[in-house]
Amino acid sequence: MNQLETIYLEENAVVILDQTLLPSEVKYLHLRTIEDVWQAIKILQVRGAPAIGIAAAMGMYVYMKEVARTASDFDALAAAFEKGRTYLSGSRPTAVNLNWALARMSDVFESVKGKPVDEVIIALREAAENIREEDINVCRSIGEHGAVLLKPGMGILTHCNAGTLAASKYGTALAPVYIAQERGISLKIFADETRPVLQGARLTAFELHRANVDVTLICDNMAATVMSKGLIDAVLVGCDRVAANGDTANKIGTFGVAVLAKNFGIPFYVCAPFSTIDPKTPTGAEIVIEERDSEEITDMWFSQKMAPAGVKTYNPAFDVTPAEYITGFITEKGILKPPF
Ligand code: MRU
Repeated sequence: MNQLETIYLEENAVVILDQTLLPSEVKYLHLRTIEDVWQAIKILQVRGAPAIGIAAAMGMYVYMKEVARTASDFDALAAAFEKGRTYLSGSRPTAVNLNWALARMSDVFESVKGKPVDEVIIALREAAENIREEDINVCRSIGEHGAVLLKPGMGILTHCNAGTLAASKYGTALAPVYIAQERGISLKIFADETRPVLQGARLTAFELHRANVDVTLICDNMAATVMSKGLIDAVLVGCDRVAANGDTANKIGTFGVAVLAKNFGIPFYVCAPFSTIDPKTPTGAEIVIEERDSEEITDMWFSQKMAPAGVKTYNPAFDVTPAEYITGFITEKGILKPPF
């Protein structure tokens, strides 16, 4: 697989591929302050549940390194750490990986309590790098478990982007596709364009096309047609938060795809690292769904305004697929089947 790096750490910067410019322009941004990192997460320059967790962890390191230049003792560091963690945690609400990664950084910070400032900063850097490395391994394992389900020539529908661009490598929903490709199994992938931000068209189609995977882009309202024509053998999607009962938040439109899959008797798999499973959220009803600006619906990507000025909009960024629609969760530890 020949993919661009999504996110990595330099000495004083979190470096990200600016996903708002894809597919037209490949440009890397150096995020040097915690405000830069918050803004990049907020406006989706870096997006996808694992990638925003990694960005937040790396952002904490870069921020704490700067704080350490003037902090006199561990207490001063601790006050700044808490402020930074709370600030980054507020950048996006739905993906649990953001808080999961920040909690990992907090645990490491606590474990070096009272140590010299230099040692604290080295530990935070290692922790952020480890989160990225682990993500690569976890996604590869998801891919290996998922690839077992895939046979040559199968048609796979995916929604949004849960590939390399949403993580550090492989992604979740696209990991089985990449592993199948490594094993010489060719598949036919159908990518929903994913209104309104077009992660499917701009990102999934971009990365699969670049990796020489057979990908066909469709509009969101064409999923029923391709399913009814027998072109889809399985659906693979990623997720932002899995509640304790198996209800799953993912990009808006995922629920609709799940309902269609059930109608046509097509297996619907959610690819999820354990870091996306949130036992503290009992059901999908308690998952906070991010609402984003009207402008994403009315103006974004169009050369002319596509809706009357001032029209009311409703723009939830995610929906919740009830557990009963989910055939299984493909995780790094194997495939979980109901009851969840
Ligand atoms: O708003 P986005 O682009 O961050 O939404 C991303 C998704 O919904 C992905 O499917 C999910 O984060 C899983 S990424 C492996």
